[in-house]
Amino acid sequence: MMRPTVTLAYAQTLDGRIAARDGSSRWISGAESLARTHQLRASHAAIMVGIGTVLHDDPRLTVRLATGRDPVRVVIDRTLRIPLSANLLCDGAGVGTWVVCSENTPEAPRERLRALGATIIPVPEDTYHQLDLHATCQLLAARGIGSVMLEGGSRLITSMLTAQLIDRVAITVAPKVLGTGVAAFGDIGIERMADALQFHNPIYTPCGADIWIEAEVRYDP
Ligand SMILES: NC(=O)c1ccc[n+]([C@@H]2O[C@H](COP(=O)([O-])OP(=O)(O)OC[C@H]3O[C@@H](n4cnc5c(N)ncnc54)[C@H](OP(=O)(O)O)[C@@H]3O)[C@@H](O)[C@H]2O)c1
Repeated sequence: MMRPTVTLAYAQTLDGRIAARDGSSRWISGAESLARTHQLRASHAAIMVGIGTVLHDDPRLTVRLATGRDPVRVVIDRTLRIPLSANLLCDGAGVGTWVVCSENTPEAPRERLRALGATIIPVPEDTYHQLDLHATCQLLAARGIGSVMLEGGSRLITSMLTAQLIDRVAITVAPKVLGTGVAAFGDIGIERMADALQFHNPIYTPCGADIWIEAEVRYDP
């Protein structure tokens, strides 16, 4: 299957939370890590988030704290819940926003989003009525996207990992504790410690008060 390489990038607390109980995640990481995240954005052709992240954070996903090109912005939005006022549609960034939705969505909301400059990419739903992420990645490759930076949130990260579509991680760990909140990963079907998914060749770089961890993901035991 032709698909882009995917780098998962997110910021977490020491206890593995990517957002607090109320869903807020700004800002877990410090200024240096944020700038590094923007550098990483500039080195990818596209940046991908789930609709939950758009509804909660209304992100812009552009490169502002570093120099470089803005990647195409891709939202995984099965039922076209993205608000017409979302920054991704209205912030005037020159770069496009692609909305990946179910093949079953009606034409009228698609047309409203196209009128705001969005590109609509219909894909099939899987057996759990979520978007088929393999098909999504194939369609992105067919449109010339060679690399994707996946920026969250929790549900999309979990599905992408379960689908074995993540190749690398770039995780910022901040010296903060929330105790409860949104975990980076949900259930990925692992019961025993011995079966934990191991990331390979990790590189640990101090970044302000945070640690920046890059590693490779391999799915073979
Ligand atoms: N710390 C960080 O670096 C960071 C980064 C990003 C986000 N966050 C936080 O993460 C939270 C949002 O995470 P979230 O889990 O609620 O939302 P999410 O992962 O951004 O989006 C999940 C939604 O995507 C849609 N979707 C369609 N196909 C899917 C598939 N195959 N697998 C998974 N989802 C699919 C579903 O919407 P439908 O139900 O409409 O199908 C699902 O509810 C926010 O609190 C945000 O602040 C933190």
